[in-house]
Amino acid sequence: MSSEVWKDHGVATAFLNERSRLIPDRPRQMEVILRVLRSAPRPIRRVLDLGAGDGFLLASVLEANPQASGVAVDFSPPMLEQARVTLAPFGPRASVVEADLADPSWKRAIEGSFDAVVSGYAIHHLIDPRKRSLYEEIFDLLPEGGMFVNCEHVASSTPGIQRMFEEAMSEHLCERRRERGEDITPEQVYREYIARPDRAANILVPVEDQCRWLREIGFREVDCFWKFFELAVFGGTR
Ligand SMILES: C[S@@+](CC[C@H](N)C(=O)[O-])C[C@H]1O[C@@H](n2cnc3c(N)ncnc32)[C@H](O)[C@@H]1O
Repeated sequence: MSSEVWKDHGVATAFLNERSRLIPDRPRQMEVILRVLRSAPRPIRRVLDLGAGDGFLLASVLEANPQASGVAVDFSPPMLEQARVTLAPFGPRASVVEADLADPSWKRAIEGSFDAVVSGYAIHHLIDPRKRSLYEEIFDLLPEGGMFVNCEHVASSTPGIQRMFEEAMSEHLCERRRERGEDITPEQVYREYIARPDRAANILVPVEDQCRWLREIGFREVDCFWKFFELAVFGGTR
């Protein structure tokens, strides 16, 4: 199944209602992203969020950088609609652009360069050669000292470690749903998690490989800044 599944209203709203806010350690991931951006060698005046979903990540970056403006890119109509709502309080500081990152022509939808490019759980929907090409396109959009930070679903090294992640994720989601009053077991959540319709649209790559790609492209200060099994925050500086 392709990433087109994200254009489906049910898939988009299920993610926004259920999983987006429930991602384990999301506040810590945001803290790490913002901390890395604060260390940027150049002031963050313009930010690009790729696969922005409801605009949560871009909104957090704009809140932390009151002098910055930002562009949210996504290809899913329900996500774009939600991003417009989330980003409305930022007025002219934020704009929302429809473009398909699977097609190199997506860059025509945006103008100029960016001091920082961020992305959250989106690039893993692209096939591997396209991921790597997108990282090259991001490099080209950054001036010297510009930063790329990707908060991403990455591959486990072995099926056993993948199983560990899926169990940890299911237990975490189960606890949150029980807090909301649902009578549900971790086994039921595991079965649902494994069968979720967007799972087949995930094309995961180990974080080590992606950091290597970034270094090969020319990024420096490349690292995985934070990781919990298959959830990672990584990136680098041009
Ligand atoms: C799991 S959601 C993450 C949304 C948001 N970045 C966040 O962190 O909550 C993945 C997002 O990537 C978008 N996406 C997937 N494939 C895409 C593509 N080829 N072009 C543009 N956006 C894409 C989806 O529409 C969806 O909004």
